[in-house]
Amino acid sequence: MTLRDAVAVVAPSGQTESEHTASAPEYAAQGTPIGALVYFSSASENTARFVAGCRFQDEGINVYRVPLKASEPALNVREPYVIMVPTYGGGVIKKAVPIQVKRFLNDPENRAWIRGVIASGNTNFGEAYCAAGDIISAKCHVPFLYKFELMGTPEDTAAVKNGLVKFFTTK
Ligand SMILES: Cc1cc2nc3c(=O)[nH]c(=O)nc-3n(C[C@H](O)[C@H](O)[C@H](O)COP(=O)(O)O)c2cc1C
Repeated sequence: MTLRDAVAVVAPSGQTESEHTASAPEYAAQGTPIGALVYFSSASENTARFVAGCRFQDEGINVYRVPLKASEPALNVREPYVIMVPTYGGGVIKKAVPIQVKRFLNDPENRAWIRGVIASGNTNFGEAYCAAGDIISAKCHVPFLYKFELMGTPEDTAAVKNGLVKFFTTK
């Protein structure tokens, strides 16, 4: 960082500002946001379908998507969020978190705002079912709020939608 850049990240009030401005949500909340959901979904798009079906934006929840490819602009989230992550370890628990999600959470400015985790997976993977949720919960010290299989059921949609509203509005 040059001195000029270093000066630029200090606001006139003397408060340090983020070096990276917040990204725009994929689905912007209607009205004043109550919180945010950050999700990852690979080319199979199961999680993307689940998220679209939940219509979180109608409940005042901003929705952000972690980019699939390293060539896409990095995602910067600067508001409290719950992360939703499909498990990708192929049955190996320690490999459960997708690399794209690790990259997002390795940025301390993104990690500062995580408040909870929801994981998905496939019960065929036995003990490694939804293991990404256990790992993120332990590493980021946030509650593992919910797990669901593949693109979820209508019951999962209702539970996650209502559960997130309650989570963000109950102090
Ligand atoms: C290569 C691969 C490895 C996977 N490994 C696991 C696993 O270890 N545990 C699990 O519960 N699900 C596992 N799954 C299932 C995915 O989590 C599930 O299909 C999920 O819905 C994918 O979400 P997406 O389509 O949004 O990427 C795996 C799927 C694939 C294709």
